[in-house]
Amino acid sequence: MSSGEPMTDHTAGHSEPSAPSCGSLCLTRAWDMPNANTFLIPTVARLLNLLVGDGIGWVDPFANANSPAQHTNDIDAAMPTGSHMDAREFLAGFEECSVHGVLLDPPYSARQIREMYAGHGNTKQITAVIREAARIVRVGGLVLSFGWNSNGVGAKRGFVSEAVHLIAHGGQHNDTIITVERKVRHQRRLFW
Ligand SMILES: C[S@@+](CC[C@H](N)C(=O)[O-])C[C@H]1O[C@@H](n2cnc3c(N)ncnc32)[C@H](O)[C@@H]1O
Repeated sequence: MSSGEPMTDHTAGHSEPSAPSCGSLCLTRAWDMPNANTFLIPTVARLLNLLVGDGIGWVDPFANANSPAQHTNDIDAAMPTGSHMDAREFLAGFEECSVHGVLLDPPYSARQIREMYAGHGNTKQITAVIREAARIVRVGGLVLSFGWNSNGVGAKRGFVSEAVHLIAHGGQHNDTIITVERKVRHQRRLFW
């Protein structure tokens, strides 16, 4: 609803305002300086500390140099990660339902790839990466998606959104949007 008026329950046969029928999604907004190293943004660092902790059982296919995850990968061979594969191939190496969580912080645009990540990356393959992330997380585990939208992994792959955190950066900058989703059911490949 975009009018800003209270929602009305017409099906109940009267016109008293009723609460919008939404789940318990947590929405927060903070302000921080932008940083190409997302995980160095103070609000993000606090969130990772809270949700990822020591990172055991966590996987980061786009790790760059600042990931708390136990299993790290970055296609850029200059990064201090456990491996240097394409993100999808890296995730494909994990068993189904085998990890506690995945951090998905890919380049957000072709321009970022060019200007910030030395030409490393390809924004087109993200759907295949998301599919692999959904496959390897255990039921009850989390995927944290970072970007300029809140699409995340999605309900059709068995995930429920628990929180969306907006980090505004001022001026003409896009927000950094962090979507926190929990896997509630393992969806077999059939319907993907
Ligand atoms: C947004 S940065 C990650 C930043 C990191 N989370 C941090 O806070 O420092 C994206 C990273 O993904 C890497 N990358 C881009 N395309 C990739 C791909 N297809 N497979 C693996 N890594 C890729 C880039 O080299 C870059 O380091």
